[in-house]
Amino acid sequence: MLNKEEAISRIQQLRRTLSESNRLYYVENAPILSDFEFDTLMRELSTLEKQYPDLVTPDSPTQHVGSDLSASRPGGKEFARFPHRYPMLSLGNTYDMAEVEAFVDRAAKSLGHSFTFSCELKFDGTAICLTYRKGVLYRALTRGDGTFGDDVTENVRHIGNIPQRLSGTGIPDEFEIRGEIYMPYKAFDRLNEERERDEDPPFANPRNAASGSLKLMDPREVGHRGLECTLYHVLGEGLPFETHDQALEAAKSWGLPVSDKRRICRNIAEIEEYIGYWDTQRKFLPFATDGIVIKVNELPYQKELGYTAKFPRWAVAYKFKAEQALTKLLSIDYQVGRTGAVTPVANLDPVQLSGTVVKRASLHNSDQMQLLDIHIGDYVYVEKGGEIIPKITGVELSMRRDGVSVPRFPEVCPDCGTPLVRDEGEAKYFCPNTDGCPTQIKGKLLHFISRKAMNVIAGDATIDQLYSLNLVKDPADLYSLTKDDLLRLEGWKDRSAQRFLDSLEASRKTTFDHVLYALGIRYVGESTAKELAVFFKDIDSLAAASREDLLQVEDVGEVIADSVVAYFRDQRHLEMIARLKQAGLRFEMEAGAGPVSDALKGKTVVISGNFSVSREQIKQIIALHGGKNSGSLSGRTSFLLAGEKPGPEKMKKAEASGVPVISEKEFMEMISGGAGHGSEKEDSVPESGVDGERQLALF
Ligand code: IVH
Repeated sequence: MLNKEEAISRIQQLRRTLSESNRLYYVENAPILSDFEFDTLMRELSTLEKQYPDLVTPDSPTQHVGSDLSASRPGGKEFARFPHRYPMLSLGNTYDMAEVEAFVDRAAKSLGHSFTFSCELKFDGTAICLTYRKGVLYRALTRGDGTFGDDVTENVRHIGNIPQRLSGTGIPDEFEIRGEIYMPYKAFDRLNEERERDEDPPFANPRNAASGSLKLMDPREVGHRGLECTLYHVLGEGLPFETHDQALEAAKSWGLPVSDKRRICRNIAEIEEYIGYWDTQRKFLPFATDGIVIKVNELPYQKELGYTAKFPRWAVAYKFKAEQALTKLLSIDYQVGRTGAVTPVANLDPVQLSGTVVKRASLHNSDQMQLLDIHIGDYVYVEKGGEIIPKITGVELSMRRDGVSVPRFPEVCPDCGTPLVRDEGEAKYFCPNTDGCPTQIKGKLLHFISRKAMNVIAGDATIDQLYSLNLVKDPADLYSLTKDDLLRLEGWKDRSAQRFLDSLEASRKTTFDHVLYALGIRYVGESTAKELAVFFKDIDSLAAASREDLLQVEDVGEVIADSVVAYFRDQRHLEMIARLKQAGLRFEMEAGAGPVSDALKGKTVVISGNFSVSREQIKQIIALHGGKNSGSLSGRTSFLLAGEKPGPEKMKKAEASGVPVISEKEFMEMISGGAGHGSEKEDSVPESGVDGERQLALF
C-alpha cells in the first residue's frame, strides 16, 4: 500500500491522465487509451481514494461521468444545452466474472426476495436521451456531463430508425427513452474509406465515428452517415410498468427500436451462459458491442437499490476485452498521400485476429512510433480499434532480441526525394514538393476525377497512363486531351476514348461546390466545400477572403482558414484555376441559388435557442436573405437571434458587448420588411409576422 505522500502524487497523476483521456474520448472523439487501460487506471484511482477518503475531491474523475458537451471542445461550435430531467449516469463495469457474481449476491442480499435480471448487449456507441411528447419526438439530448446535455434533435431526426411519431396504444403523454446511437461496421468502413480518400483523419473506431457524426452541424450529412439507434431505458412519471422488460416491450410496440437480443435470467448460471454465448456470437453482429449489461428487471427493486453518484446499484456492465494478437514487426513502409502527408504503415508477420488475417497496421505518425518505442523485429500487440482497424498498441519488451533496429523516419520523400517538413503543431511530416512529387500529382488527379468531385469515369490505371506519357500533369490538362492523345494509350479504342471524353464533357456542368472540393485544398472536405461555396458564392470572392472572413463560416476553424488562404496565395493554383475556367468549369453558384432578398445583406447573425422551425432552416433563411450565420459572438456580430430558451452564455455575452438581441418574430418582420428594418424587395417576401413554416414555403 502506498503511504499518504506517495498516494497524493499517484492520485494527481492518475486524475490528470484520466481527465485528459476523458476529454479526448468524449470531446475530440480521438481516444488515447484503450477501454481496458482506462478502466484499469480508474480502478487504481478508486482504490487509492477508498484507502484515503479524505483525498477524494468532487472534481475527481471517479465522481462524475466524462463530458461530451460541445462547448468544452476547443473552438467547438455550440449546441443549445438543456438539463436532463433525470441525471444521465454511467454503469459500473468489470472484466471479471467473479465481480458479476458479487453484484448478483449483493443485489440478492439487499433485496432479500426473489427477482430477475435483464441481460442485454452493451452497444458501443454514444448515449442518447429522447423525449416523446404526445407520441411525437420532442427533443434529443446527448449525455453531456450527465446533468446537462447538448440538443441534437435536428440531427437525430435524420437517423433512419428513430421514429418521429409513435403509434399504438398506451403511449404516455410524456416519457423519456434512452439508448445508444452507433455506426454499423459497413457504414463505418464506407465513411473511413471516404475520409482516407479525402485525407481527412479516419475515425479510430465506430464509436468515435458515431459520436463525431452526431455532433455534425449539418443534419443532412448526419443522415448520410448511416447511424442507427437501439433504445434500452424507459423513464417517466407514473408509467404503468412493473418491469424494465415490460417497458421495453411497450416501447417496441410503439415503433421504437429495441433489441431483441435481451434475455431474462434468474441466476448467475443463466447470466454466465448469456455472456458466454455473446462473447463469441457478437463477432457476427453487424455493429460493435463492448460487453453485456446486467440489470435488475423489477422496477420497484431498481428503486430500492438506488444509485451511487455515478452508477445505478441495480445494473452492472461486464466488458469484453478487445482481442489482441502478438506478432512480429517485419518492416515499415512510408506512404505518401495526395496532400504529401507521410504515414508509417507496419508490415507484420501475418496473424489471425477476430476472424481476419492482419498483415498491415497503421502507426499513425512518428510521435506514435516513438511513444511505443518500436523496433523493427520486435514482437508487437495488434488490436482492432472497435474491432475493425488494426493498430499496434504495444511492444512485448520481454521478447526483444538482439538485432532489432530503431526505425528511422525518412528525412526525404520516399517517392521524389524532397526533404520532408513538419509544420508547427502538425503530427505528420509532409513532402512539400506538391507540384513535382508523382504520388501527390497522381493522387490529386484521382481526387479531382473522383465521384464526389468531378465524377469522371476513370481510375488509377488511366491516370497512371496519362501521367507517364506526360499528357496530364494537373487537372486542367485533362480538358485539353484529344481523342488522338487517348488513342496513344495502351489498350484504348475509339469507344473507350469517346466514353472518357463524354464523361469529361459532362463534368463541365458540375456545380461550384463540387468543383471547389475537386481542387483538393487541404482540409477542405465535401461539406466544407459546400459551405464555402454557399457563403462566398464564387471563386474570386473566396480567393480574396481573409482568414477572418473565412472564420465567419460555420464549421471553418483556424486550420481550414489558414489552408484556404495558403492555397490561393500560390500563383500556380491561380493559374490552374484560370485554365479550368477557360475549359468551362463552373466557379460560381448558379443563379437562383442566390439570395431572395437583401434584407440581411452585410449582417452577421448569431442564433441561439429553439425556433418554430429547425435551426438549420433558420440558417437557410439567413443565407437566402443575404446574411451570414456565425457560430460565436464577436465584434462583427450584427445581432443575436434568440429563440425559445437561448443559451445563457450567449445572452450574457451579447448584453455585455452591446449586441442587439432580436426575437424570432422581430426577425421574421425584419426579413419581410415589415418593421422598417431593411428589405426593399418587398415583393419577394410575404407579409410581416408570418410564421416560419409559411416563410419557408417560399423557398
Ligand atoms: S443502461 C443508468 N443498457 O454503456 C444507466 N447502457 O458504459 C443506464 N450502454 O452509459 C444505462 N448498451 O451509454 C444500458 N444495454 C445497455 C447499454 C448501455 C450500451 C452504454 C450507455 C452507458 C454506458 C456505460
